Amino acid sequence: MASKGLPERLLKRWFPHTTTPFIANAPMFGFADCRLAGAVTTAGGLGFIGGGFDFGPESTQLANLDATLTKAHAELGSIASIQTLPIGIGFITFTPTGFEDHAVAILEKHRVAAVWLSFPKSDADHQPLIKAIHKVQSKSHWDVKIFVQVGTVQSAKVALEQGVDVLVVQGVDAGGHQWAQGASLMSLLPEVRDLVSKSARVDDVAILAAGGIVDGRGCVAALGLGADGIVMGTRFIATSECPAPLSMKESIIAATDGGVSTVKTTKHDVFQSTDVFPRQYDGRAIIGISYNEFESGASDEGIIQRYNEAREKGDDHRRTVWAGTGVGVIDKIVSVEELVRSIQQEAKLAVARAMEMI
Ligand SMILES: Cc1cc2nc3c(=O)[nH]c(=O)nc-3n(C[C@H](O)[C@H](O)[C@H](O)COP(=O)(O)O)c2cc1C
Repeated sequence: MASKGLPERLLKRWFPHTTTPFIANAPMFGFADCRLAGAVTTAGGLGFIGGGFDFGPESTQLANLDATLTKAHAELGSIASIQTLPIGIGFITFTPTGFEDHAVAILEKHRVAAVWLSFPKSDADHQPLIKAIHKVQSKSHWDVKIFVQVGTVQSAKVALEQGVDVLVVQGVDAGGHQWAQGASLMSLLPEVRDLVSKSARVDDVAILAAGGIVDGRGCVAALGLGADGIVMGTRFIATSECPAPLSMKESIIAATDGGVSTVKTTKHDVFQSTDVFPRQYDGRAIIGISYNEFESGASDEGIIQRYNEAREKGDDHRRTVWAGTGVGVIDKIVSVEELVRSIQQEAKLAVARAMEMI
């Protein structure tokens, strides 16, 4: 089935304040806060806040989110319409209990423009969450779009059938958590684009690319592979607005040869005692002291103990620096506005260069 509409226009229609190419920051929990997301939206992108993974009645994550969104309304007043706050919220969904009862009301109250779901235990688990959002959406004329991050063609197929608006296609070059078994954007993205093109939803679903994109060249490559816009995580960590510690930003800047200086494994979570993700996921981070010790034969118990001792002393040399393979191209901390502008300019140059080669 041939597409009648231009997907770029779909994103522009849904998020009228955005400029092209469409850029969003990943909702990195603990790193994507109100300041970072607000700066991305103000620069013409779509800012996401990491909302967390605890949907219980006493969740401090949801209480913080509620307070953060109140602040976001005040800060983005000039571009926020009465109807919609131009900010998205991302959630990690492997323990979804309570989402419908406790998270949806906060999202609707603040009329956020987008909700991003990632890392379910089973793809089917997103169906009730999407249904719960749709139910409130139609009742209260809440103009919200649902993003689901997918790392395989099968997960994309399920999300498409569940009524998602945006597929965030995550390749294995990505920083942070991701599918343990997957492909890079180079092969995953065209296959997902074909899937959408052949589906009945061809004209109402947008595709974003995530994983290893850090500049305008990566952006153009992703658009060429079938994306309508991009998502970046690692690149946004090394911005002045990101609340990540300076040492984490410096590690990203210092790292080169990302395929060698980062590694994708469940061990990062084991070392920092956060090994709670379902087994189909692992995570990519910069190779640090703990991973080197593991490679040299040290036991997990010993590494965990040294990790905890260092943390108690306030020594962050063992901190996990979640980062994608694009680290080698990141060489300075910039403001979000500079980053968004430079990607837009570089993208034009990259297109011109490609045209010369064609
Ligand atoms: C520091 C960091 C934290 C992340 N946290 C989350 C998260 O909380 N939820 C989520 O859906 N994805 C998370 N991700 C993955 C991103 O959604 C995205 O797929 C990834 O950043 C894209 O690759 P890139 O880092 O090379 O740009 C995280 C990534 C990084 C680098």
